[in-house]
Amino acid sequence: MKLRTVKNLKNLKGKRVIVRVDFNVPLDSKGNVRNDKRIRFALPTLKYLLAEEADQLILMTHVGRPKNNEKELMTGRIAERLGKLIKIKVAKVNGWGEKGIPPAKIVMLENLRFNPGEKSKNENERAAFGKQLASLADIYVNEAFSNSHRAHASMVSVPKFIPGYAGFGVMQEAEQISKALVHPKRPVVAIMAGVKADKLNAIKNMMKIADQVCVGGALAYALRKVQGYGVGATKIDQEGMTEMADIVKEVSKSRKVILPVDAVVADKLDAKAKVKIVPLEKIPNDAMALDIGPKTIKQYADIIKKAKTVLWFGPLGAFESAPFAKGTKAIGSAIAKVKGLTIAGGGDTATAIEKFKLEKKFTLVSTGGGASLEMIEGKELPGLSILKK
Ligand code: 3PG
Repeated sequence: MKLRTVKNLKNLKGKRVIVRVDFNVPLDSKGNVRNDKRIRFALPTLKYLLAEEADQLILMTHVGRPKNNEKELMTGRIAERLGKLIKIKVAKVNGWGEKGIPPAKIVMLENLRFNPGEKSKNENERAAFGKQLASLADIYVNEAFSNSHRAHASMVSVPKFIPGYAGFGVMQEAEQISKALVHPKRPVVAIMAGVKADKLNAIKNMMKIADQVCVGGALAYALRKVQGYGVGATKIDQEGMTEMADIVKEVSKSRKVILPVDAVVADKLDAKAKVKIVPLEKIPNDAMALDIGPKTIKQYADIIKKAKTVLWFGPLGAFESAPFAKGTKAIGSAIAKVKGLTIAGGGDTATAIEKFKLEKKFTLVSTGGGASLEMIEGKELPGLSILKK
């Protein structure tokens, strides 16, 4: 997909640019920023626009999933953190420019999701909010890849009123993921793991693209159950599996899909739990499979070793707890050694990669779990489609 990009924006004197960022960052109960990765990720685009002498940058983001305009989800603290990182004071306004915008170089609007127009199911309401936001500026930039699967006013309606461009971060993420999906270097290996059955949509699409799809997490044991194995007390998404019965059938029969042959089991998810390694057919009735076992690790790692393209979505086990972290660490380390395109996505996967200090060894650790997963499922992201050339 060819997008209009900020690279083509030059000499912005006299122009105000409204930038949709995704500063939906982890906050503590007072609204302090706990991790500013997403803010740092937007800096190259913001600095570029300033270097091209834009008159003003007006930033807009959502934060969390507010129910009642909660104070701790206001954008003030986030604006402060951005100010520190970019070394320019960021002026925070309370609404979305209804009372005008102060003449500061960088301005941050209030949490977009406090305004019912942002996510409204009614297209006219979304368009009205989009029009209001667009009236604040001359140019729109999307630097929110991680929110590009949402057809919200700030993503899709604003660029219907003023010209829209993709930021550097959006370009980087969209291009790398596309490279893995369209004419990728082979072999292509996907590592798909998780608890919820909805990952099956991504597995199904990867069965068309990848040479092998290794599955982990509770979902892998749910698929083994379908094949007739006992999985003890492993917590599986039975409802989701039933709802997606057709895909389940297809996936569990596919020769491309590789499932665990052993497991690390325990009677509870606890760092002090007594663990056992058992072959798949011997999971005790009262035990849960909480990680892949050593034989599965070896099998998956051997497959990964030969890969030229790897996509990794989801930790292989309950890695937050030391006894169940080996599978995720070993698979992450195996991918980190691949000389080729290596892409990881999803909040938990990113946390695991950070925990095991592997981040620098990946081509891309996507900032957006939902958005990248939708690309892997073969869907078009509305926030990107609207920026097509
Ligand atoms: C994310 O964190 O994945 C994005 O900011 C989207 O947030 P949402 O899932 O609440 O729409």
